[in-house]
Amino acid sequence: MYLTHRPRRLRQTSAIRGLARETSLHPGHFIYPMFVAEGEHVRDPITTMPGQNRLSIDELLKECEACLRLGIGAVNLFGYSVEKDDEATKAYDSNGLIQRAVRTLKNELPELCIQTDIALDPYTNHGHDGIVIDNEIVNDETVEILCKMAVSHAEAGVSWVAPSDMMDGRVGAIREALDESGFSNVSILAYSAKYASCFYGPFRGALDSAPKTGDKKTYQMDPANVREAMREIELDLAEGADIVMVKPALAYLDVIARAKSEFDAPIAAYNVSGEYAMIMAAAEKGWVDQERAMMEVLLSIRRAGADMILTYFAKDAAQTLKRDFGRFS
Ligand code: PBG
Repeated sequence: MYLTHRPRRLRQTSAIRGLARETSLHPGHFIYPMFVAEGEHVRDPITTMPGQNRLSIDELLKECEACLRLGIGAVNLFGYSVEKDDEATKAYDSNGLIQRAVRTLKNELPELCIQTDIALDPYTNHGHDGIVIDNEIVNDETVEILCKMAVSHAEAGVSWVAPSDMMDGRVGAIREALDESGFSNVSILAYSAKYASCFYGPFRGALDSAPKTGDKKTYQMDPANVREAMREIELDLAEGADIVMVKPALAYLDVIARAKSEFDAPIAAYNVSGEYAMIMAAAEKGWVDQERAMMEVLLSIRRAGADMILTYFAKDAAQTLKRDFGRFS
């Protein structure tokens, strides 16, 4: 048989496959999301996310040192707040949990890119990302509080703030508030295309932050929409976002790919808690190989076009990459 094209030629050995490989993973692409709790020597396992813990600040510091040793240069912090109220007052307390955590990390590990989540849900007693007035999650009043929260994180020494609330106009307002307070070097990683997804379930278990009534569909996006995602990204870039994010990642790889082709801006994707939990649960049952599933999923997110990935697999994947460095596969 005469065949001009034999694509299998480039699959013959692992060295050749390595030369032809189009997408790569590097620990420097990962951002590790972590949960901070009050106390000392606390490593409180999160049942809905096997392998992840709520960490007191001293333990957080140790984990961040481990990240840096593995080549992971960035962490994204969420506060496990037990003090919740209507107005999320703990969210912008200069001596709050996240603010203290950031100050410690900034002092001890100045090279770490410290990022913080900007949203009210861990701090409100109703579990919504915004202030509720007459059963409505009000936009502009919420944005004012988000600005205070971002400035308090900047004062503590954060490198990036990451608004995950999906209120309209918050990126521009936060940019202005940061600049006015002298923090023009603090970047904004905007959750631009954040969908109303069931895959956040395990995360809400970790922070005890599930909405007590209703759902988040009046602010997070309809999973059916992709044009709207491009519009959200466009608005956030116009308002001054430095990086735009698509979240979740796996059921939205088409959105990541489209964002990559339409915008010349760094693109992040969030491999969320439910995506993590699915692999961990199936692996526990022996139905998928945990390590291979993890690497395949992370590669798919990069292949779709994400420059950086927020993932609970950051440390495990970095360890795998380190082990395999210099080996052919
Ligand atoms: C808070 C926030 C959520 C996540 C990140 N920031 C939950 C939500 O919007 O309900 C989800 C992260 C994950 O599932 O891993 N606004």
